[in-house]
Amino acid sequence: MTESEKDPAQQVETAREAFEREFERFVGFTGDSANQIRLSLVQAEGERRVLAELRSRHTGKKSGLAACKKLIGRVQPEERASFGQLVQQTEAAMTEALDGVEERLKTHIEAARIERESVDVTMPGRRPRPGHLHPITLMRQRIEDIFVSLGYAVEDDREIETDFYNFDALNIPAGHPARDPQDTFYTTDGFALRSQTSTVQIHAMQRRGAPVRMIAPGRVFRRDTPDPTHNPMFFQVEGLCVDRGINMAHLKGTLAEFVHRLFGPGTKTRFRPSYFPFTEPSAEVDYSCFNCGGEGCRICKWSGWIELGGSGMVHPNVLRAANVNPEEFTGFAFGLGIDRTCARIYQLDDIRLLFENDVRFLEQFR
Ligand code: FA5
Repeated sequence: MTESEKDPAQQVETAREAFEREFERFVGFTGDSANQIRLSLVQAEGERRVLAELRSRHTGKKSGLAACKKLIGRVQPEERASFGQLVQQTEAAMTEALDGVEERLKTHIEAARIERESVDVTMPGRRPRPGHLHPITLMRQRIEDIFVSLGYAVEDDREIETDFYNFDALNIPAGHPARDPQDTFYTTDGFALRSQTSTVQIHAMQRRGAPVRMIAPGRVFRRDTPDPTHNPMFFQVEGLCVDRGINMAHLKGTLAEFVHRLFGPGTKTRFRPSYFPFTEPSAEVDYSCFNCGGEGCRICKWSGWIELGGSGMVHPNVLRAANVNPEEFTGFAFGLGIDRTCARIYQLDDIRLLFENDVRFLEQFR
């Protein structure tokens, strides 16, 4: 017996049973248990798609129920009304069941979406961790402020130099040990990584001519083995003052004023004879310990004095190399180590701490 030859009422029953078999999986979403739908958002959206397919399969144009509707006109006239009613009631029951589940799933999905997108404004916020300046930068800024207030310009210059600026113009003769690759880093093209900021003396005089008064803080590089007071990369600040009639007293007065402002008015300076090719005469400069005032303590290693850097009167050959007439102009220069000064001020035992990038250490300098 083909489908169309079956008893029409039987066909409706078959369609209803087929629907109920497939609808079985949604029974949990009807009645009171619907309030306890325990699906994730993704699962609920999946179930909603399955429901839509089920609806189209059992109530759509190609469904068994649609085939039953077509039979209404073909049944015996006296049975037509009751058969029509049966088809309608069956369809109404299916649609009602489908709509009920559809509504429940829709509500559940909307609630789940709101929960996913909602922000709990009562939760404590995550505190932003803004950065801060590195202790070397803080130190550099303090030094710059002092010299700017004394009328010095701040110069910034290149870190990779030709032999002329790194050595020749600084009166460092050929064959001098500082030129040795064991002391200085060279690029593969034969340029030197500057080993001191004194190179900026030449650039500044070439650029500005004389008179000139400038400081030049910056990075320098030496083939020094790292230890508590040495790094292969460290910071210096160069100072240069060239004018008519400049003498050693100006140098001493300037550095004395600098240490007064940096460490306090009671700080003394001491100049020890020394040698640098680019200054004559030359001197090492020390200042009395800011902690013990010269009595001797752990910070100054019980000597009462702390080394500031090198200094001297600019050598006439250096002035000449920068096209400044040494008959008319004289000048003084100095070069201070920023890292070691920073370490002393903050009482660090080891300057390598400054470049280890350990946040626990750096955070103390906020
Ligand atoms: C010079 O570099 C001279 N250019 C200074 C100078 C300038 C003299 C102008 C005369 C006129 P010196 O090599 O002493 O000098 O270095 C100066 C300072 O750099 C030292 O006092 C020290 O604080 C610092 N320094 C030197 N080597 C290192 C290193 N490896 N690590 C950290 N700091 C260093």
